[in-house]
Amino acid sequence: MRGLRGRRVLVSGGSSGIGEAAARRFLEEGARVFIGGLDPGEVAAALARLAEVGGVTDTAADLAGTAADVSDEAEAGRLVRDAAAALGGIDVLANNAGTAWREPFLDIAPHHWDRLLAVNLRGMFLVAQHTARVLVAQGTGGSIVNMSSINGLAGEADYAHYNASKAAVLGLTTTMAVELGRYGIRVNALCPGYIETPLNAQIASDLDDGFAAGYAEQKIPLRRTGRPDEVAAAYAFLASDDASFITGTAIVVDGGQLTAM
Ligand SMILES: NC(=O)c1ccc[n+]([C@@H]2O[C@H](COP(=O)([O-])OP(=O)(O)OC[C@H]3O[C@@H](n4cnc5c(N)ncnc54)[C@H](O)[C@@H]3O)[C@@H](O)[C@H]2O)c1
Repeated sequence: MRGLRGRRVLVSGGSSGIGEAAARRFLEEGARVFIGGLDPGEVAAALARLAEVGGVTDTAADLAGTAADVSDEAEAGRLVRDAAAALGGIDVLANNAGTAWREPFLDIAPHHWDRLLAVNLRGMFLVAQHTARVLVAQGTGGSIVNMSSINGLAGEADYAHYNASKAAVLGLTTTMAVELGRYGIRVNALCPGYIETPLNAQIASDLDDGFAAGYAEQKIPLRRTGRPDEVAAAYAFLASDDASFITGTAIVVDGGQLTAM
């Protein structure tokens, strides 16, 4: 991808799954990366794995991270401040942190609804707003990529809270693109389908053996689930200069799932 070398990239939720794969891809492209994550031990372990990436020549300058709960206003602000301090500014935000669990609509407890929306929507807003303020103050422009899902475009049973959060991320994304375009800040979203990550492994562990394979066979035209690096490639594209006239849209990365009846 063009233009990623030397870019200063904050990856929220960069300590696992898709976010870790994105951090890895940005490092491979020669970018400098700061990751966030909920759990300090998970962040430290991811940083150790990412330090092995070929492009990382000076670990201290190229790669750092911290634990912070993005649903908390002060923590989200600290995450962005720490990233800007470590990288000497920010050019790209992969706004990736999120969570999910299955819960039938009729059974969702209001405090479960509140927690999921607090992480997936409030957290996304807080990190995006703090980062956008940094970008505007720098006067450099930049790229923000918000993590939605195909669940933001169609309703999957037992995920009403998750689906609502991801649909709202698309509304957040279009409005940010409209308001921030004048500053040279592009804002887009990603809508992955079923990607093999620790989050999905956790969900599938409560379901039948072979759930993922059966799901792929029935629902995904490419007949397989996706890999984190296949979403990381879309993050890299939207962050790069190859996407310089793309803003306010979403890229679906789902093996064709949404196109099938
Ligand atoms: N795996 C999929 O099939 C899939 C599909 C579509 C969208 N997504 C989205 O992609 C993103 C990453 O998912 P994943 O599957 O890689 O999950 P994962 O559980 O492997 O990683 C989630 C990351 O988010 C972080 N996180 C979770 N809650 C947080 C909080 N309160 N504060 C800060 N960080 C927090 C975790 O620490 C971790 O780094 C999520 O937003 C998810 O909704 C995943």
